[in-house]
Amino acid sequence: MPKTGTSTAPAAPKRNSTKSPPSAAAPAQAGSALEIKDTRTSKTYSVSVAEGAIRAVELKKIKTADPDDSGLMSYDPAFLNTASCRSAITYIDGDKGILRYRGYPIEQLAENATFLEVAWLLRHGELPNQQEYDQFVHDITFHTYVHENMRKFLEGFRYDAHPMAMLNSSIAGLAAFYPSARNIFDETERNISIIRLLAKTPTIAAFSYRHVKGLPFVYPDNRLPYVENFLSMVARMSESKYEANPVFARALEILFILHADHEQNCSTNAVRAVGSSHVDPFSAVSAGVAALFGPLHGGANEQVLRMINEIGSVKNVPAFIESVKSGQGGRLMGFGHRVYKSYDPRAKIVKRLADEVFKVVGVDKDLEIALELERIALSDDYFTSRKLYPNVDFYTGLIYRSMAFPTDFFTVLFAIGRMPGWLAQWEEMLLDKEQKIARPRQIYIGPPERPYRSKLKAK
Ligand code: CMC
Repeated sequence: MPKTGTSTAPAAPKRNSTKSPPSAAAPAQAGSALEIKDTRTSKTYSVSVAEGAIRAVELKKIKTADPDDSGLMSYDPAFLNTASCRSAITYIDGDKGILRYRGYPIEQLAENATFLEVAWLLRHGELPNQQEYDQFVHDITFHTYVHENMRKFLEGFRYDAHPMAMLNSSIAGLAAFYPSARNIFDETERNISIIRLLAKTPTIAAFSYRHVKGLPFVYPDNRLPYVENFLSMVARMSESKYEANPVFARALEILFILHADHEQNCSTNAVRAVGSSHVDPFSAVSAGVAALFGPLHGGANEQVLRMINEIGSVKNVPAFIESVKSGQGGRLMGFGHRVYKSYDPRAKIVKRLADEVFKVVGVDKDLEIALELERIALSDDYFTSRKLYPNVDFYTGLIYRSMAFPTDFFTVLFAIGRMPGWLAQWEEMLLDKEQKIARPRQIYIGPPERPYRSKLKAK
């Protein structure tokens, strides 16, 4: 049972780095263009450059004389250098370790804001005033209950179901409960779907936890704030009102804020891609939950703890690091990031948070192993030359574990935090006139046309 209550006190190239945000002082780059000489045809083309990018469709005009040539494509597996959208939500400078939501530095939001304030900010672009905030909190609070059939649905899972699999399918299942959510261009419908997803995700998450533990489900307590209510649904036993440990409640709120958005990461890209088919938001967001489940994305926080358990002791750390470097020991989980090529700014905050939480629960051997891993990796050329620094997942697992959350629940906590980002990005995509159904091109490398000759035995 989580120790959440007072009763249980406890200079590489700038790959994927977002361009500098527009500032009033920055001169417009009118007339900027890229000259491309095609050595196949000796023709020269001019491709316009705006906001540090060329439009990939402009490359189509670069063709050979071959009538079947449909024009030049750009080949970019894993989107290493392709912007898929223009977005006003989150700004990252991976080289400088900067993360801002709608212009506000993550450090200031983590220090001062509430998670629901951040959720509003991400969607609306401005911080809510008191009246907007009160109404928003009220709306979320009164949509925390799920249909009783959702509860039965959750009860159908086996005792050892992974909570991310339960969360993913349950969020997709909400589409069946709210069929009118398919009217995605109706603002009222969009609004209520967003409220429902923010309100019900913690309930479903907590129910999945209780199911695995074989404990009775605890219904939402609408007297409690968002995070405390979630903790109550997770940890409450016979007490009539659950009192969350304030250090844990604030730590979790900060972790939710840190996870709330991260521009075009794998799960957000999944939400946008699936949402671009104009499916309902529950289906689109469940694609994000699925993507987050993977060990290279949100599942990394779980893998960090498993890795630390396997290492077992501080004295085994040097050998483990050597095995990572030789390729025998897998990756150092919780290290490295596609965008951050210096310390992940979220990881700095999480490390400080870990100190506060560990003051309550006491330092354990796993934290000592993590600190030693970090110390050795940060002074080892293998990691520094590849710009591999701790990411947000390196210490979050330790905090969750110290609150006694089970390891396979960590990514669920990430999903609760990321929900406002997925929703803000989904709506931005939907209202963006330039967006169409996401449909990448491919370079076909299979066999040319060939006649069918059965390899089955003659009938
Ligand atoms: N441990 C050891 N080597 C690594 C690691 C690592 N964690 N990450 C990257 N490398 C090496 C990799 O082997 C490669 O070396 P070489 O150039 O010799 O082949 C080089 O660094 C570049 O790696 P990459 O795979 O091209 O980098 P990427 O940008 O595609 O991958 C990443 C980013 C996050 C998937 C990767 O760093 C990784 O697998 N990290 C561990 C998993 C992890 O912590 N994920 C959480 C990411 S943060 C939260 C989130 O957004 O979900």
